[in-house]
Amino acid sequence: MLDLKDYGIEMWDESKIASFRRTLMTWYDQEKRDLPWRRTSNPYHIWISEIMLQQTQVVTVIPYYERFLDWFPKVEDLANAPEEKLLKAWEGLGYYSRVRNMQKAAQQIMTDFDGIFPSTYDDIASLKGIGPYTAGAISSIAFNLPEPAVDGNVMRVMARLFEVDYDIGDTKNRKIFQAIMEILIDPERPGDFNQALMDLGTDIESAKNPRPDESPIRFFNAAYLNGTYHKYPIKLPKKKPKPLEIHAFIIRNQEGELLLEKNIQGRLLAGFWSFPLLETSFIGKQTSLFEDDQSLLETHSQKDSFEEAYACQPTWTERSFKQVKHTFSHQKWNLTLFEGILNKDDLTLNEHLHWVKLDDLNSYPMATPQKKIVAEYLANNR
Ligand code: ADE
Repeated sequence: MLDLKDYGIEMWDESKIASFRRTLMTWYDQEKRDLPWRRTSNPYHIWISEIMLQQTQVVTVIPYYERFLDWFPKVEDLANAPEEKLLKAWEGLGYYSRVRNMQKAAQQIMTDFDGIFPSTYDDIASLKGIGPYTAGAISSIAFNLPEPAVDGNVMRVMARLFEVDYDIGDTKNRKIFQAIMEILIDPERPGDFNQALMDLGTDIESAKNPRPDESPIRFFNAAYLNGTYHKYPIKLPKKKPKPLEIHAFIIRNQEGELLLEKNIQGRLLAGFWSFPLLETSFIGKQTSLFEDDQSLLETHSQKDSFEEAYACQPTWTERSFKQVKHTFSHQKWNLTLFEGILNKDDLTLNEHLHWVKLDDLNSYPMATPQKKIVAEYLANNR
């Protein structure tokens, strides 16, 4: 096991560790948030909550969590869910690989574990999409196993407690925080211990507006006591998302239906429906949006690039729209919207290309950038 001394960290003695656990657990018993996934020990429910909570705030997650369980009450229902319904259940949460992986994991549970959620850390960690954090959270919360759940919140709290001089954004340093937590975690109440740190980390010990004077564990906190609170955690700047200029084409037919295209597998946001998009910023170069589609690379600069790509000639309107912006973790989209009118018969449809009535838009899973396009289109169309 890793020796914390090698990282300049002095671990506390047993009595201080016991006192820390008591202090944190007493605070949690008084202050814990009442959340739907805290009223259950069903590992399937806890798993769903933990995956949703990975990139999304608690208030946003609650209605998604409840609807998800309503639509897919059992592991089996998730394993057998049609893709459209799965994406619909996740629509707006982003990072869609999370829900695709959940379905694969549900299928693993059906085939490898007889439909029963596995109950050891290693078996849980063998499921698709479940990394050390999620495996630790499910093991401790649902099965009372003394496994840490180390995420950014926990790393921030630990970095302050022990003045850890290692970058919390660098995955290779995670093992330091894991080692600290393996010593500190309360073996009697591991799930509550982990969740107490989550509550503390998202509120009193938050990244942006911490209130260190209110922290129940401030007298254990080396950074607080030594006046170095502002210095921790150490977090070095990350690479910025890459800006992309993209043209989005709102193509309408004489019946007022809009042209939607289903994103092919392997492309960003695969399986979602989108207005036709063409990236403009890297003409003639390999681009991120069209990684898999060499045929579009030479041509995607203007409206005529749409005409070539879709083999049709809409009548372009002069209507001007606001630009739509959306930032993913790795790409920053700047979307310019064009509106064209096309005779329904002038386009050959296929299973990936549909004319859709405005009223039916809702039944097609769309990711956030496309929803923003719809909103801008409707705002401009009144
Ligand atoms: N964030 C991640 N997991 C959580 C949980 N179980 N409770 C509250 N916030 C969380």
